Amino acid sequence: MTSTTAKRACVIGWPIEHSRSPLIHSYWLKRYGIKGSYTKEAVKPEDVKAFVSTLAERGFAGCNVTVPHKEAAFSAADVKDDSAIAVGAANTLWLEGGKLHGANTDTYGFMTHLDLSAPGWNAQNAPVLILGAGGAARAIVYGFLKAGVARILIANRSRRRADQLADHFGEKVCAIDWDKRNDVACEAGVIVNTTTLGMKGVGDPGIDFSRCRAGAVAADIVYVPLETSFLKSARAKGLTGVDGLGMLLHQAVPGFEKWFGVRPQVTQDLRDLIVADIEGA
Ligand SMILES: NC(=O)c1ccc[n+]([C@@H]2O[C@H](COP(=O)([O-])OP(=O)(O)OC[C@H]3O[C@@H](n4cnc5c(N)ncnc54)[C@H](OP(=O)(O)O)[C@@H]3O)[C@@H](O)[C@H]2O)c1
Repeated sequence: MTSTTAKRACVIGWPIEHSRSPLIHSYWLKRYGIKGSYTKEAVKPEDVKAFVSTLAERGFAGCNVTVPHKEAAFSAADVKDDSAIAVGAANTLWLEGGKLHGANTDTYGFMTHLDLSAPGWNAQNAPVLILGAGGAARAIVYGFLKAGVARILIANRSRRRADQLADHFGEKVCAIDWDKRNDVACEAGVIVNTTTLGMKGVGDPGIDFSRCRAGAVAADIVYVPLETSFLKSARAKGLTGVDGLGMLLHQAVPGFEKWFGVRPQVTQDLRDLIVADIEGA
């Protein structure tokens, strides 16, 4: 028997006003004619555990989790996927078989968008250079390792954090000094900005793309603005640019499927909707 009860999901964070997830999921609910809702829930850090352990009582099939609750969500999950375990954080929760499941879909979101936007990115088997060593960097390093990359270099402003990330993932991942990033950028096949530099047009990771190898790819996970100065400079020097919006859209796919039972498509229409929102902000 098919249930006609509306399904509900939400995104929790503190603060939460900035989240674009409701725009994405509401678009899909309408697109697939699903009776359901996706809302923003402001949850204080001290209330996260209680909130996620009572999702069913609150009428939710699950939720997305954003800053600063991803680690707490990971701890609360009874069952965790491989990426959540590798990263130590969960951004997607759902109830299944009476248990709370937790996943980190940033890895999937980043790698799917990279594969679609720059097919053959690993054709030369070159090292990958990651700028930054925060939570997003961790999810992305895991994605590259799973994809079979043999050498990943991490450059982070605070060297200690780069060392910690490299130690966590083992011998294929190497920390380098932030000041040495341009010395290795020329040998990299993919350069990824996972720092906050470039957000709202402020700052720039300072990569000299003029000496990069032919066919190299530059990916930025910052998506406000959509075309960061990092991407602009990379494209001007002939690199393939991969923007941060695709990661945001693709990371939303697994959660929607778990909560609402339909695997949604990331379409140009959806992208245009979010671009308009970014440009209007
Ligand atoms: N597209 C998407 O779907 C998506 C998903 C997740 C995150 N993001 C974006 O990715 C960025 C990072 O997120 P996160 O969660 O990893 O944040 P995070 O854990 O706070 O890490 C921030 C990173 O930025 C570096 N950084 C900050 N200011 C810097 C500066 N002035 N110079 C050099 N490095 C600086 C930090 O270096 P230190 O360690 O030295 O402080 C750290 O490596 C944010 O802009 C976020 O919005 C996008």
